This record gives sequence, structure tokens and C-alpha cells, in this order.
Amino acid sequence: MDGARLESVARQLVADGKGILAADESAPTIKKRFDTIAVESTEENRRAYRNLLFTTPNAEKYISGVILFEETLRQKSLDGVAFPQLLSGKGILPGIKVDKGAKSLAGFSGEKITEGLDGLRERLAACRDIGATFAKWRAVIIIGKDIPSQFCIDANAHALARYAALCQEEGLVPIVEPEVLMDGPHDIQRCQDVTAATLKGVFSALFEHCVLLEGMLLKPNMVLSGTECPKQAGVAEVAERTVRTFRQVVPAAVPGIVFLSGGQSSELATEHLNAMNALGKHPWELSFSYGRALQEHALKAWQGRADAVAAAQRVFHHRASCNGAARYGKYDKVMEEKAA
Ligand code: 13P
Repeated sequence: MDGARLESVARQLVADGKGILAADESAPTIKKRFDTIAVESTEENRRAYRNLLFTTPNAEKYISGVILFEETLRQKSLDGVAFPQLLSGKGILPGIKVDKGAKSLAGFSGEKITEGLDGLRERLAACRDIGATFAKWRAVIIIGKDIPSQFCIDANAHALARYAALCQEEGLVPIVEPEVLMDGPHDIQRCQDVTAATLKGVFSALFEHCVLLEGMLLKPNMVLSGTECPKQAGVAEVAERTVRTFRQVVPAAVPGIVFLSGGQSSELATEHLNAMNALGKHPWELSFSYGRALQEHALKAWQGRADAVAAAQRVFHHRASCNGAARYGKYDKVMEEKAA
């Protein structure tokens, strides 16, 4: 394992003012997104859409890396350049989602376990050989009556740690994503407790599996009120609770925490990140690895129309630049009005 190289890639991914675009929607998920704009999810349309995002002029100012789905890693741009090479050419690191999705956890009603460890070593090596420099694995923790169980947290933490160790062995930086879902009527305190318990389980497994903390990134949820909670915590409270929770559990050796957006509105995801960075110097970089919150408006602007590509790219560039500003705690809502 080349620890110095892993650390250097991890640090590039959280370079000043930059974050990650998650464009690794699986076939069913991208179909769901395309359904919202009445575009058929064909291989050609998926390629055209990803081409739009990756060729956005100057996106590399704010985007350090892109997480790809396997199909995209092997596709070519509309100009015939393999997507990983196109991204590398712009100074953007290509990454790959390698988990096989969250499935029902047998014996534990309502809980999930992420699959995909079998044959993972070989898949990682193959992805690395065609240009991937980092990988992602997402575990899902659901808040409900009497769940999550400690067993579910530990099973997912164990899988995340096995994945992370294999990534480092194969020379890829693992992005470790334990996502506590925001769905449900629970309050923010409950989200904070479950997030802390999940992170404790994850870091204890990472230690046991000898994962080099300097050569990985954490991709967690923020500490938020449940979506159906009648009393929604404001931006300042979310920022304060999230930072406090992570300070208690995430070792300073980890170079960066790259949040997922998880169904927050695009603007709110930016505001939350901004408020956390405005709280001042942290032990790790606090950045983004947003899927929906970076793409939602661009997807709407595109509508599958070739004549709307330039407009959609402007929308994507704007969203990326707002999150770039949030990396410094310098985002201002005025930026949205100016763009409109
Ligand atoms: P969202 O930002 O849409 O949650 O997606 C990030 C991601 O990669 C989830 O695995």
C-alpha cells in the first residue's frame, strides 16, 4: 500500500474551495431522476446527460472529483473520449461506486445491509486500471421505532471497513459513506444520537481493519431533523450539532468529511455546509459530495434537449460555485439572486 499516494489523492479531493460531484446513480435511480423530466433512461440519454455535467466549462474550479457508476466509467464522451480520461484531462479525479446496493438485513425487520464484497478486490483493480483513483460504498441506517439495532450498525460498519481496507490495498482512496436517512418524524436529537452511534461503530471497525485514516474520506449525513418532524431545526442548530458530533467521534487524521445531501433542497445543503465552515477552523476539511443538491436544477434546465445543454451547464456551474463558496463559509444568498 502506497500510503503517501493515498493521502495525496484524499487531500486533492478536499482541496481548497472544491468538493465532489456524486454522479453515480445506479440504473434504477437515474431512471427515477429522468422520470421527473419525462426523459427515457436509455444508455444514450444517460451518456448525454453525464457528458453535459462533465464538460461544463470551468466546473473544475469547484469540482475536485466525480463519482461514477460503472457504466459511465466505461463510456465515452460525445467527442469520443473515455469519461475517466476526459475528467483527468480537466484535473478532476474520477471515482467509482462499487457497492451493489442496500438490501434487507435478514432477521432484522426494516433494516438494511449493503452488499458487494464478493469479488471486490478484482473489481477494484479493474476500475483502477481504467482510471479510477477513488471509490465509494454507501451503507444505509434507518431511524424508526426500536431501530437501528446495534447489530445493524456493526454489520454495516464491518462491511464498510472490509471495503475500505481492500480499496487501500488496491491503491484506491475509499470514501466511507454511512448514511443515516433523514426520513421519519424523529427530532434532531435522535438523529444526533444515531449518527454518533453509527460513526463510533464505523471508526472502531476501521481501526480493527487497519485502515489508514489519512488515506480515506468520510461521507456522512448531516445532523438534521427528520423530514416529518413538526419542529425543524434551523441552519445554525444543524451546523452546531453536526460539528459537535463529528468532533467527538471523527479522528483528526481523516483529511476530510464530504457530506451527502440526502434529499435536502439544493440551497439548504449549501447553507448548511456554509454555516459549518463559518464556525471556524476544524480538524478536517468540511466539504461536499452532493448528488441531488448539485444536479437537481441542472436536470430541470436540461429536459433532455440538446438546445438546453448550455443553459443547464450554466445552472450546474452556478450550484458548484455556491458550494465552492460554502467551503470557505463565504456563501451568501445574494449569489442566488444574481444568478436568477
Ligand atoms: P445525495 O447528495 O443525492 O444524497 O447523493 C450522494 C450520494 O452519493 C449518495 O450515495
